[in-house]
Amino acid sequence: MRELSMHILDIAQNSIAAGARLVQIDVVEDVANDMMTISVTDDGRGMSEEVVQRVGDPFVTSRTTRRVGLGIPLLAAAAERCGGGVEIVSKQNVGSKVTAQFQLSHIDRAPLGNMAETLLVLVACNPDLDFVYNHLRGDSSFHLDTREIRSELGSIPLSHPEVVAFIRDFVAEGERTMGA
Ligand SMILES: Nc1ncnc2c1ncn2[C@@H]1O[C@H](COP(=O)(O)OP(=O)(O)OP(=O)(O)O)[C@@H](O)[C@H]1O
Ligand SMILES: [Mg+2]
Repeated sequence: MRELSMHILDIAQNSIAAGARLVQIDVVEDVANDMMTISVTDDGRGMSEEVVQRVGDPFVTSRTTRRVGLGIPLLAAAAERCGGGVEIVSKQNVGSKVTAQFQLSHIDRAPLGNMAETLLVLVACNPDLDFVYNHLRGDSSFHLDTREIRSELGSIPLSHPEVVAFIRDFVAEGERTMGA
């Protein structure tokens, strides 16, 4: 079973490929309604209505190395297996929001996985971009915004090994506190 954090990494990579400067990841575990919602919002170049319509089809891709794009279809398949689905809202030259919903308690729902490592990879590989991560579960919440860290750092890049390690430990500790 693929961890959901791997899907999140894939979907965030789409945002980066689309030229986003800010990528926001929201994970909401709504225990009362037995629903898990994951969304990735970006300010990238967006998709035409035609691409949005067809993007659930694994033969739609702007890749040139191979013809099949799998990121969104794989996420959609995982969500549909868990009584949910994927919704894409996108506007050209404004940005995109990809939302996946899962039945939280569904037997086939993969665990969220290691969000600390996921954010480490995203930040270390894209130190000039900003990332926001919000994780809500009931009354507990975790929040990371690299813009806040960046403003504390001055001229030190986000990719500095100590900064990357700090971000990883900060997320890991936050997720632990939430009981993830
Ligand atoms: N956030 C986004 N902004 C702009 N275009 C997007 C975004 N997400 C997806 N797309 C478009 O949808 C296509 C399909 O995305 P998908 O992740 O399914 O496949 P891929 O990225 O092409 O390939 P893979 O994920 O398998 O490496 C992309 O090639 C791109 O054209
Ligand atoms: Mg992709």
